[in-house]
Amino acid sequence: MTGRLAGKVALITGTGGGQGRAGALRFANEGAKIIGCDLNADGAEETVRMVREAGGDMVSLAPLDLAEEDAVQRLIDFATESYGGFDILWNNAGSQRFGTLDTLSVEDFNYTLTNEITILFIAIKHALEVFERRGRGVVINTGSIAADSGTTLPGNVPGILAHNIAKAGVVRLTSTLAAELASRNVRVNCVSPGIIETPGTAPMLGTEDAPGPMRQHFLENLLIRRIGRPDDIVNAVLFLASDESEWMTGSNLIVDGGQSATSGVGLPQANVAAALQSAMASALAASGA
Ligand SMILES: NC(=O)c1ccc[n+]([C@@H]2O[C@H](COP(=O)([O-])OP(=O)(O)OC[C@H]3O[C@@H](n4cnc5c(N)ncnc54)[C@H](O)[C@@H]3O)[C@@H](O)[C@H]2O)c1
Repeated sequence: MTGRLAGKVALITGTGGGQGRAGALRFANEGAKIIGCDLNADGAEETVRMVREAGGDMVSLAPLDLAEEDAVQRLIDFATESYGGFDILWNNAGSQRFGTLDTLSVEDFNYTLTNEITILFIAIKHALEVFERRGRGVVINTGSIAADSGTTLPGNVPGILAHNIAKAGVVRLTSTLAAELASRNVRVNCVSPGIIETPGTAPMLGTEDAPGPMRQHFLENLLIRRIGRPDDIVNAVLFLASDESEWMTGSNLIVDGGQSATSGVGLPQANVAAALQSAMASALAASGA
């Protein structure tokens, strides 16, 4: 068997669509057997069909709620029965509720923490028995550039309070578990996407033919001027899942078209740039340099 994941087995959460589906297809194409799961049974089944049609090996357990510890143990047992366990765990699944301090209920807040951090904690906790048996393991968590900012939305629109907090938690979960699990030969890394075109972001972005203001903003301000594609993230996850990254653990790999590099401020604007350059020239002249 050939491919960058030849001979490996990967458990990917959230294979019902978006990045999880793209990951299942790509990982299988790189030689891995895939175990999927999702709340969305139809989406997960469709991904299995697509992977098999492309010649890959995949099984999945759905509907399955990763927030339920018993269900996660069932998933681990299913993986063990199906393929003898797994080498790679990609914690991709996540869902959140938006809102500000005024509008977000305590239930919404807790829902987001559960479905963006706790499900990762449970999955890694239960995957450990498989990694112990194999003597090694690789975990890739899915963070977000939202971890590093008060807002990542265009126009600094507030409303992703719980999401920002949860994703910051994912980054810290990654480094903490990297340290905790190093002696057990388990590497733990994180990929932090910027804006990616998936079913999850479709309502905010609109379509290419009928773009919403958010799509417009990103197209005008990202250093690489297109919306991210699921494969942009899968490429980074593939690297972290493969032995090519064997000397990496505790890292947070940002894949965001350059959004973080400008702190979300965007590309230079001609009028602001001209005013600033003139002010700098005056300051230089006044200093006598
Ligand atoms: N799309 C983006 O712009 C973007 C940006 C930054 C981070 N991310 C992160 O990337 C990951 C994937 O995002 P996506 O855009 O592909 O999302 P998506 O909504 O298209 O897919 C996520 C999948 O996870 C599943 N899921 C959610 N909670 C679950 C649970 N408790 N149990 C089982 N399945 C569950 C959903 O059913 C869904 O199929 C998420 O962690 C998300 O926070 C996405």
